[in-house]
Amino acid sequence: MTLANTFTALFSGNPEIICEAPGRVNLIGEHVDYCDGFVMPFAISDRTFAAISRRPDRKIRIASVQRRNEIFETTLDDLKPTAAGKWERYVCGVIWAFGDKITSGLDILVDGHVALGAGLSSSAALECSVAFGLNELFETQLKLAQLAKLAQRAENEYVGMPCGIMDQSVSLMAQAGSALLLDCRDLSTEQIPLDLASAGLELLIIDTRAHHALVDGGYAERRASCESAAAKLGIKALRDCSISQLEDSRSKLSELEYMRAEHIVNDIARVHECVDRLKNNDFVTVGNILTKSHASLRDLFEISCSELDLAVDASLANKSLGGRMIGGGFGGSAIALFKIEDINQAKQAIAAAFKASGFKEPRFFTSLPSAGARITS
Ligand code: GLA
Repeated sequence: MTLANTFTALFSGNPEIICEAPGRVNLIGEHVDYCDGFVMPFAISDRTFAAISRRPDRKIRIASVQRRNEIFETTLDDLKPTAAGKWERYVCGVIWAFGDKITSGLDILVDGHVALGAGLSSSAALECSVAFGLNELFETQLKLAQLAKLAQRAENEYVGMPCGIMDQSVSLMAQAGSALLLDCRDLSTEQIPLDLASAGLELLIIDTRAHHALVDGGYAERRASCESAAAKLGIKALRDCSISQLEDSRSKLSELEYMRAEHIVNDIARVHECVDRLKNNDFVTVGNILTKSHASLRDLFEISCSELDLAVDASLANKSLGGRMIGGGFGGSAIALFKIEDINQAKQAIAAAFKASGFKEPRFFTSLPSAGARITS
């Protein structure tokens, strides 16, 4: 059954609009978005679809194909950040963040194809598919960067996850065939062509299927350390610090703050270096940059885990040009750059290494850089 048919069966009436927004892979620049840094993610082909209709009253009904179309009900007047709930909070949060621009009740049916918990930003895909649709339906005319901020606000203030702006930005602003170089301070962007195939390469995405308990608290704790480091250095954000300035100010920071800040300052520099190397088709150096970023996330930022380390190590032991964990950390996915002809053998070796370590069987994906949110034609 198509999404429109399921919507009709569930809510009666046809959806007025169906929109879609993708998940993402972050090539380089991890945990630097909330430090006003630069990041370079790209949108994956997996996406979330939202079928939406306005209602004549103020009732809100939300359902998901993945939750067997069970209907969650509330009203426009009952949307409050403290509202308890599950996945539907991401949708409620987006409606809430639009404020009085949303003037009627809504029926929303979501169909999510971004793997949950894989660190591929299924939550931003969900938020952005709904935000894009509401922007169209209510003619609110928000630009994509404004919509990204709105979706981030939904997640920060309504859901209570202190995420940065990367995931929502790329889900909305990505273009097929390019990675998105994003300045997280002013949300200016540059599309960086990413045509790995013509260089005989492919980026393997390895979902470790590990989810460690630290995820939420660990993320907030890292963010807090970076903010306290910036405050002690007397700067707005760690983006405003060079590595030599950081070294000179070492005594102002605790050992832990210094480690976190060292990762941030170096990873922002790695983003610029990576852009430069990509423009020169120097994929060997790109691979090395990815591997250095992983070591920094593991040793200085301390957000890797055994499964992610194994995914990277087993890739490197099987001819990868380089790889690293991606996303918030403590589980989820890693990426590794390979020559196309080496990928199959590497997948088998990585799977065997996971088995030998007693880990869950990893899932492998690849994805070309895909388009951002749009109306589903
Ligand atoms: C999560 C957050 C992003 C970003 C990454 C780490 O995906 O949602 O804002 O901080 O972690 O780079």
